[in-house]
Amino acid sequence: MKIVKVGAIDSTNSYLRELMKQSYVKDATVVVAEKQHKGKGQGDNQWSSEEGKNLTFSVLIRFDELKVVHQFMLNYSISIAIYNVLRYYIPEKLSVKWPNDILSAGKKICGVLSECVLKSSNVNYAIVGIGLNVNQENFSDDLSNATSLKRILNRTIDRDELLEKLLLEIQYQIIGVRKHEFKKIKSQYESILYRNGVPSMFKNADDQEFLGRIIGTSLMGNLIVELEDESLKEFGLKEIKFI
Ligand code: BTN
Repeated sequence: MKIVKVGAIDSTNSYLRELMKQSYVKDATVVVAEKQHKGKGQGDNQWSSEEGKNLTFSVLIRFDELKVVHQFMLNYSISIAIYNVLRYYIPEKLSVKWPNDILSAGKKICGVLSECVLKSSNVNYAIVGIGLNVNQENFSDDLSNATSLKRILNRTIDRDELLEKLLLEIQYQIIGVRKHEFKKIKSQYESILYRNGVPSMFKNADDQEFLGRIIGTSLMGNLIVELEDESLKEFGLKEIKFI
């Protein structure tokens, strides 16, 4: 595993992608930045993170035979890896909000942005970007739902040690994806899924509110929700929001 540490760059995901244009980048290469000027979040969101306080890094993961239809298993396994490491720090109140926000007591502590590059019907490689709030204590008003390890634990966390644990666990979980252990990954993921089985209010893509209960996820990565009339409906990204 090669770790490239950089100071200030635009985004570790973009940096890794650029690196790949220039030369062959080995599987499990990691880029860690102290500061991102243009940290990318899910959708059109930005990821902001105070310089030198948190972990913002990207990992290159190459695949030989992961079908595009199973690419979500990568997201699931990354969430499981982060959850497994964080639970040693925060044993309680940790969950994964679909698709892969890591929450502590309902507040977001970590976000993941996976960018997959395809080769016909397979995933050729993925750049998995992880933003984990470690020692940041203050968040701007628009990030009122964010938290960090320091805010929860009241102590400063060694970022290098945490990164090492995360990278080891990610590599371990990826073995499962490479071995196509999809059912196991899916059931582990569902066991840590935020509000799984709990009646909750959601919004659909048309901003209409509705009551439903998450009952699981599909192998394709959709969220399966039981509606009030007991029918089941699958939602993809951008088709459903928690309220
Ligand atoms: C989210 O919106 O929840 C996803 C956030 C992902 C942020 C990380 S920080 C490291 C990597 N580089 C980026 O530009 N984004 C990801």
